[in-house]
Amino acid sequence: MDSDKAQLRAPTGTRDILPPESARWEMLVSRFARLVSHAGYGLLMTPLFEDTAVFARGVGQQNDVVTKEMYNFHDKAGRSISLRPEVTASVARAFVQHRPQTPWKVWYWGPQFRYERPQAGRYRQFYQMGAEALGTSDPEIDVEVISLAWDYCASLDIPGLALRVNSLGDATCRPVYREALVSYLRSHEHELCSEHKERWQANPLRVLDCKRPDCLAATEGAPHQLDYLCDPCQEHWKAVLEGLLGLGLEVSVDPRLVRGLDYYTRTTFEMSSLGLHSAQDAVGGGGRYDGLVETIGGPPTAGIGFSLGMERLLLAIDSSSPEELVHGPDAFVVDLVGGSEATRLTRELRRAGLSADRAFDARSLRAQMRAADRSRAPTVVIVGGEELASDTVTVRSMRSGDSQDQVRVPRTDLLSELRRRAKATKEGS
Ligand code: HAM
Repeated sequence: MDSDKAQLRAPTGTRDILPPESARWEMLVSRFARLVSHAGYGLLMTPLFEDTAVFARGVGQQNDVVTKEMYNFHDKAGRSISLRPEVTASVARAFVQHRPQTPWKVWYWGPQFRYERPQAGRYRQFYQMGAEALGTSDPEIDVEVISLAWDYCASLDIPGLALRVNSLGDATCRPVYREALVSYLRSHEHELCSEHKERWQANPLRVLDCKRPDCLAATEGAPHQLDYLCDPCQEHWKAVLEGLLGLGLEVSVDPRLVRGLDYYTRTTFEMSSLGLHSAQDAVGGGGRYDGLVETIGGPPTAGIGFSLGMERLLLAIDSSSPEELVHGPDAFVVDLVGGSEATRLTRELRRAGLSADRAFDARSLRAQMRAADRSRAPTVVIVGGEELASDTVTVRSMRSGDSQDQVRVPRTDLLSELRRRAKATKEGS
């Protein structure tokens, strides 16, 4: 037992998300849920920890996320367990376990864990929302998935949103390309950055993703997977690009886009924002993983999906409009007659479908008005002695500039008055 009285804090790379900030998170998730459920994706909830083999096999035995960043431990029965560093491998594991009808379209949100060096936009516990579609290799599903990711970010007005796409080929053409890349890198080994000079052979494709000037210069003339696609991959790639352009999405083809997890085949994509620091500018990414389900022990099954980083989305939004997405309750009740009128009124409003908050501890008018201000409610409902005696309430706008906007209304008219104001606020914003 820890008898130390020193103040305890959240572990490095994690943070508490307090209200009202947490309201923005709720908003992100509810908007995402609406978008993907309208497209036929159902919510999937998987454990936060899995048998380590799920990620070792799924993400890749040699992948940095598995070898360096995963939180793993042995449970009391000696099993090797890992906190999930991402969800896609868990989705594949759940697919293998439950064998649902295909196409299986699911969405999820929740925390992921990676032991990375924390910095702005990079945490050890971070949150993702994502969607996956398993069981079809139709290029139209690639287009659907990518356009959902795009439409969501676009609906949030993410500043400088950009979409990059690439194809990483498949088990037929990737090895041929890999050989060509290895031979190129071998002859440019001495020009690579210090890290890749040592370890480029472990994952040659990752060198293309390295942002350091040495690697960027050394790989300028490197071969691209797109020039090595086999006929079926080429056909798939062409159909995906045409589909995306047909929807009017502004895509740029980036042959350097390789992604950080080993399961990808064919289509890969990433979305970035100019509102983020360039080293961590990806708000989300994804791609196809036609071999993943088999790696986890299931039948050959195609799959594609994406995940969005919630902290990154919020940082990107903040860079252009900091207060966006935070709403207070519809009304804040200020009670100057002891407090139980506020109990009755807030309950009445809540039962009628409006959100309402109040102050406690019979505070002064000034203190209650300050609390109302902090709550961000656009309207206060005041009950004082006069109101109580005449069965009325005073309704006052909290928006700056319209302090004259105060009326006394009969208690029976309060709901319609609040609804009228809420509608006017919505129309005005
Ligand atoms: P990922 O690129 O590793 O892909 O992560 C997706 C997004 O999660 C990133 O673009 C970023 O916004 C956010 N993210 C990643 N690591 C961190 C971190 N340490 N701190 C804050 N945000 C972070 C995947 O995870 C795949 N499962 C995506 C996918 C789904 N592919 C197919 N289906």
